[in-house]
Amino acid sequence: EAEAQALKPAYHITAATGWMNDPNGMFQNQAGIYHVFYQWNPEAPIWGAPYWGHVISKDMVHWERMPPALVPDTEYDYDGVFSGSATLLEDGTPILFYTGVSRYSELKYYKQVQATARPVNASDPKLKLWKKSPSNPVISQAPPGGTLAEFRDPISAWKQDGLWYTVIGSLESCFGTAALYSSPDFQTWQPAGQWASQATVGQANAGQCVAPPVAQPGLGQCDQFGAVCRMWECPDAFQLSNDTWVFKWSDQSKTRNPYSMDWYILGTAAAFLGSHSQGNISTGGEDTSRFQASLQNTPQSVDYGSIYASKTFATRDGRRVLLGWVFETAAGCVEQCSAGINFTDSLGYQGAQTLPREVTHDLESRALIMYPVQEVALLRSTALYNNSAILLPSNGSQELNLKQSSSLGRQIEVLTAFAPVANGSLGRQQPFSVGMQLSTGHGTFTQITVNGTAAASAKGTLTISQAGVYVDRSSSGGHTNTTMQGGSIPLPAAGLSAPSVTLRVFVDRSLLEVYTLDGRGRVTSRIYPSGTDNSWGVSAFGTFGASPASANASVWDMGSAFDPMQSKTCC
Ligand code: FRU
Repeated sequence: EAEAQALKPAYHITAATGWMNDPNGMFQNQAGIYHVFYQWNPEAPIWGAPYWGHVISKDMVHWERMPPALVPDTEYDYDGVFSGSATLLEDGTPILFYTGVSRYSELKYYKQVQATARPVNASDPKLKLWKKSPSNPVISQAPPGGTLAEFRDPISAWKQDGLWYTVIGSLESCFGTAALYSSPDFQTWQPAGQWASQATVGQANAGQCVAPPVAQPGLGQCDQFGAVCRMWECPDAFQLSNDTWVFKWSDQSKTRNPYSMDWYILGTAAAFLGSHSQGNISTGGEDTSRFQASLQNTPQSVDYGSIYASKTFATRDGRRVLLGWVFETAAGCVEQCSAGINFTDSLGYQGAQTLPREVTHDLESRALIMYPVQEVALLRSTALYNNSAILLPSNGSQELNLKQSSSLGRQIEVLTAFAPVANGSLGRQQPFSVGMQLSTGHGTFTQITVNGTAAASAKGTLTISQAGVYVDRSSSGGHTNTTMQGGSIPLPAAGLSAPSVTLRVFVDRSLLEVYTLDGRGRVTSRIYPSGTDNSWGVSAFGTFGASPASANASVWDMGSAFDPMQSKTCC
């Protein structure tokens, strides 16, 4: 019990009790209040017929709990109010768009339809109560070649040429797809072709997806293939600039996923005007998508760590902000643990959301940059350390001597930047390796490394031509899954020019969020060291070529996302 509480993330969004998975329906209302919903099983710390939990905030970092917004209590959603989104209508009214799941009594699979809900009182800034539309379900027609057994997670709709459009995760002819639907009024929806498919992102032949010889009536064509044929879950699509769209999807297929499950690709969107066809069924060969991956030819990962089902929303001041589900990955659990097979089941809670991340793009590196929104600095409390001229030893590491920390160092932000000691000593590209070690007591530690190759000019500018970021949990101890997490970071072809290699790490008990090169590299990891009373500490290390690195570092104790007294902190 004490250990479980000592490991529960405190400044990330978590559920009070029970199980949390995907973020759902985020938006900022006209009163400026942020609303975040999430997949929630209040009854047990394992996945089960989800509700939509609801939290609100004025600043995206301090949250207040609301009653559940949606409960699985209607015939089309008895088995779960699954993931979805929010759309703000022209008059500012939010509409929640979600997947209702119910079991076909005579068949052993789940029927997935799309439904909507509106606030009971749209002028209540807290939007405490929600009512499901009497015209639900609003979509109960699978896309051509698709199946109602794998048809979920509608995204925030956008209006174009008088029609609303949404994208829904699907499995069509045994390929993961994002089906496009359109509506004149948010009530009557019809299939409008494909937004994207495995063919769009160059994965048409991955995963041995073959149609079964005999389609079974009433059953999804791919059901008999179980884990092999996987739909795309939790898609997201948004426009970053006039000619740049981002398409994001979540893919659990192990054959397609060496190290990541949330992917994105940059591209453009074909005109919607005129043809409003039923859409061709992509059989994996041809690509008939509206979205074209024209700006990038290989998918990139949202994060190299334990996140899934991420999605974005737009703030009123025009930022694009992403949240993702941070799942538990304890020892013995490779992916998300939802069955009672794992240490984390005994914690009494499971799951958290990432810090809100502002998403921008860099066409030179054909990649997204994701960095915590500036409001995250409001969580900083006591400054525990600040030194702008640390000389790192060429062998080993330098401890940062933290002041007395009220969280015992378990709830901190560490902001660092590394550069070669002698500018100009790296006239040509040479290997570098910098990073920090988080010590967690009883000899356990987690090592975070950024390495690559860089040259430094006499003026002190680095040109980084290659870089990767890694979280090594092999000595993290306790119940930690020791798999290494990380990967290489997309950089501009001519190299990234920067004064230093930045590394910012958020330690929130069992949850680590790592950002390097100002958000170009991201790894979210879970560690479960044992012990509740030992202090955690940080040391830094680094070399550029043969020369030692210098560093600057600041460390803060961090506050909490929820007021421990459960008082009304928000609004
Ligand atoms: C992704 C997901 C979604 C679904 C939800 C159910 O984690 O499987 O596709 O809507 O979780 O909780």
